[in-house]
Amino acid sequence: MLKHAEKICKLTRRQKADLLTGRDFWTTHGIEEIGLPQAWLADGPSGVRKQVAASDHLGLNPSLAATCLPSSASICNSWNPELIEGMGRLLGEEAAAQGVNMLLGPGINIKRNPLCGRNFEYYSEDPYLAGKMSAAYIRGIQSNGIYACVKHFAANNQELRRMVSDSVVDERALREIYLTAFEIAVKEGGAKAVMSSYNRINGVFADQNRHLLSDILRGEWGFEGVVVSDWAGTNDKVESVKAGSDLEMPSCRYGADDVYAALEDGTLDESLVDECLDRLIEFAITTDAAVKRAVKEYDISAHHAAARKCAEESIVLLKNDGVLPLGSQKVCFIGDFADKPRFQGAGSSIVNPSIKESFLTEVGNHNINYIGYAPGYKRYGGESKSLAKKALDLAARADTVVFFAGLDEVTEAEGLDRRNMKLPQNQLEFFKSLCSLGKKVVVLLFCGAPVEPGTLNGADALVHAYLGGQAGVSAMLNVLTGAVNPSGKLSESYPASYGSCPSASHFPGRQMTVEYRESIFVGYRYYATAGVGVDYPFGYGLSYTTFEYSDISADGDGVEFTLTNTGSFDGAEVCQLYISKPQSAIFRPAIELKGFKKVFLKAGESAKVRIPFDEYSFRSFNPKAGKWQTEEGEYILSVGSSSADIRLKCTVGRTGDMTDFGYDRRMLPDYFSGNAADIDGTQYIALLGHRPPKSGYDFYKKNRMVIGENSTVADLRYSKRWVGRAFSGAIRLAIWFMYSTGNRMQANTLVQGMLHQPVRGLAKYGGLSRRQMQALIMMFNGHLFKGIGTFLTKQKKGGKDK
Ligand code: BGC
Repeated sequence: MLKHAEKICKLTRRQKADLLTGRDFWTTHGIEEIGLPQAWLADGPSGVRKQVAASDHLGLNPSLAATCLPSSASICNSWNPELIEGMGRLLGEEAAAQGVNMLLGPGINIKRNPLCGRNFEYYSEDPYLAGKMSAAYIRGIQSNGIYACVKHFAANNQELRRMVSDSVVDERALREIYLTAFEIAVKEGGAKAVMSSYNRINGVFADQNRHLLSDILRGEWGFEGVVVSDWAGTNDKVESVKAGSDLEMPSCRYGADDVYAALEDGTLDESLVDECLDRLIEFAITTDAAVKRAVKEYDISAHHAAARKCAEESIVLLKNDGVLPLGSQKVCFIGDFADKPRFQGAGSSIVNPSIKESFLTEVGNHNINYIGYAPGYKRYGGESKSLAKKALDLAARADTVVFFAGLDEVTEAEGLDRRNMKLPQNQLEFFKSLCSLGKKVVVLLFCGAPVEPGTLNGADALVHAYLGGQAGVSAMLNVLTGAVNPSGKLSESYPASYGSCPSASHFPGRQMTVEYRESIFVGYRYYATAGVGVDYPFGYGLSYTTFEYSDISADGDGVEFTLTNTGSFDGAEVCQLYISKPQSAIFRPAIELKGFKKVFLKAGESAKVRIPFDEYSFRSFNPKAGKWQTEEGEYILSVGSSSADIRLKCTVGRTGDMTDFGYDRRMLPDYFSGNAADIDGTQYIALLGHRPPKSGYDFYKKNRMVIGENSTVADLRYSKRWVGRAFSGAIRLAIWFMYSTGNRMQANTLVQGMLHQPVRGLAKYGGLSRRQMQALIMMFNGHLFKGIGTFLTKQKKGGKDK
């Protein structure tokens, strides 16, 4: 039953087709005669990015000023759903005030590998934590009457070749690891919009993936909202409509033409288009009313203060030999990030902050015996003896040095995966000389994803700021002085070295496919099961106080215990519940997070803490039966302060309904032992139940290919004809030139915007018709003159040229 049937029946087929793609880069079509308003979509997860002049999806052009909140990777470390719900409320308020109908966030892809270039924008390696935190965030945003758009659905865990890669993942890992966070965001957060990702999942593009969009999202989870494509992420708009995707963004000439032609020739059922329109009309009408109701002004300094509170709870104290909080000792700041702090990542999530802070100006507002600052090292790498000397001279006069280390903004950006987990060599070299002075050293780390701290672990204290948003500086100073007791816990593991990460040998997938060979053994699920040591475990974070756990008991609905603040500071502890099933018929991680609670206690105070079970606690996905089931028997409940610091244990029994998973234990030895790094092809195929799809082209063996819509500019180098190779060569040359002349930012933009862009993406962003895109393909395949001729010939109006 269509809610807006009366409006829909007044539309012509041409109008219907047009409404399913954007009007321009950020808005949808409105039609006054039927009372359909236009709607504005804007990024993003850590602040509103409303571009009213030049538009782009890589954060290149400015946007209206807005509060820049901590990045998702940071705020998730707060493990505080109430806090993040408040952050969502504030963000939604600003969005509505700026006339934004749909906010493109949160991004909740699982951190499969620490090098994924967008990890700073995502929540966690754990689906339960990512799901609960994002659900709260979404509730906050949507309390303003606008839509939150949870993204990128799904299994989009690398940036390399992101618009064409195929994530080959077994159904159980897909459900338990990669979809569960989305499930919670939809069911508990009530997300009203979902953004389909760029990539394919098991051979089918996300935006036209019926299994994902129709069977699971709309069918199993009961999602009634709008599915929006990622920008230029629709491959075949007609197939997308059939799969349940509503809106192609941004505007795309040939997407609408294809829908129109398919309606005319009867290959697309008009009722499916009407269903999409019904959802889009509902979205535009309800959010338009909310935007009109919204107060147009908001209190900038109150929002800045709220952003500070969020940052304070997200800072993670990794190490403290007693030097923190700072006392009356003489303190100096060394490191470029003190002057120009890193507080957000780069790409489509970039925010134009309403207020900017620097440690050098803020320090005066805090009780620190501050004696001066020196940059110490060059921000973008390279040795500087004079910078180092000045800094060491300053350090010699101080009792305690606060050393600012981290990754620069060019290293962590959307569209590019990091090459390694290392910190810049010049920072590490300088740190060695600094330590030789014998002063107390506090290291502050600024980056949005795990690094190998290496020698920095030798500091007297190590505090992880992550990317704390526009008030991250004052938040950090509050932590350093003890005005705030740190309570953040890592929402991802810090492997001891990149090589020990379970997906290291299959990341990034360089050819058409990305093989998720480690299956469900992602992050701590792998480290804890295989007994592989890490630098800092999932869930870890220190406090200026200490907590004691006692008196555990469990009943059918949850677990209960007593928590006591045994130190001399008031503070908050994140109590974590992990569940395991010994003697299982299937393979499982040694522990899985199934509950958590952040509890604030005054020094000396005790409280009873209860963590309830929920529908996610005991379930496993049976790939053979195609459903969630529970294994009967005894489960171990482990409660603790991190995944590696379990304080209490007890057991609970469950009845079950589990049937055969179709696993042959002899064929899957490494999955059953949990040694899931570097799984061989035979076991992976046995798990999948089929061979991974042929990559289409084996770039390394057969280096000549016919160029198609989904060939990227990088692939053009394998073109059979020189035109394609020359085009790709020219782009590569430009990138090489920019890198070698030190323009890393511009070079990165070319890599993101061009090199990994498929031909269809070039056509979409260039506003080309399907015919013109086909002409480009002809040229790249060597039919230069025919291609030019076709490009210049007009397409029949509304026609679908084949
Ligand atoms: C990103 C999305 C973003 C969109 C619009 C895409 O490149 O993947 O996360 O919302 O651009 O800026």
